[in-house]
Amino acid sequence: MKLITCYSFKGGAGKTTAIMGLCSSLSLKQKKVALFESDPNRPLTRWKANAIRNQAWDQRCEVFVADELPLMIDAYGHADLGGFDYGLADAHGDPSELNNSIIGSSDCLLIPAMLTPLDIDEALATCRYIVELLIGEGLQTHTAILPQRVPVGRLTLSQRAAYEMLRALPLCDTPMRERDAFAVMKERGMLHMTVANMANDPATRPMFHNSRRALDELATIGTFIEKALQG
Ligand SMILES: Nc1ncnc2c1ncn2[C@@H]1O[C@H](COP(=O)(O)OP(=O)(O)O)[C@@H](O)[C@H]1O
Ligand SMILES: [Mg+2]
Repeated sequence: MKLITCYSFKGGAGKTTAIMGLCSSLSLKQKKVALFESDPNRPLTRWKANAIRNQAWDQRCEVFVADELPLMIDAYGHADLGGFDYGLADAHGDPSELNNSIIGSSDCLLIPAMLTPLDIDEALATCRYIVELLIGEGLQTHTAILPQRVPVGRLTLSQRAAYEMLRALPLCDTPMRERDAFAVMKERGMLHMTVANMANDPATRPMFHNSRRALDELATIGTFIEKALQG
């Protein structure tokens, strides 16, 4: 099982949403995905409940509560033995034994960052923390910033300046754009399932188009990660 982790010191950076999106894009490729819920607020557990209610949960996926180190160790073992292809960890908050252990066990680390000066500062601090941790443990793990909530239209001057600054760092080649389809995933469920349900409902046609675009973007981010993991 390959472990992909979204980590940032900053709350609201878009970690959980990126995890939900990646889960959808990997599930669409018939992968079995384990979600490690390390946030005690349990956003992924709530997501799963909402998704099941909306018939938008892929039964191949499972959420494992992992907000303490022994739970994470147990959950990882179960998922690995259970034949899951990917683990996705939603690691939030300040450095902790749990977060350090998740970072150290990851095959790929993503640091979501919005294009604001505060987010860039937090992303840089997170990046520095991760690099120091990896060097300290003698690990070489694919690490990249994932630009999050990037406007679909023109960027403001300050957003462009922020993007330029991020380009100095390892960066996902496709950002996650600011889209309603991403914002409503937490209530609706897995995006690929929602899109499939929409295809049978003519009333949702305007939303269908945007959701398809959102799914295409996620597929590109998924491919970027898969390539990084291969080599
Ligand atoms: N790409 C996006 N487009 C639109 N809304 C987004 C996007 N990413 C995140 N959001 C919204 O921003 C808020 C914070 O995102 P969340 O993923 O919960 O951040 P974090 O897990 O880092 O705290 C949520 O309400 C979420 O729906
Ligand atoms: Mg979160």
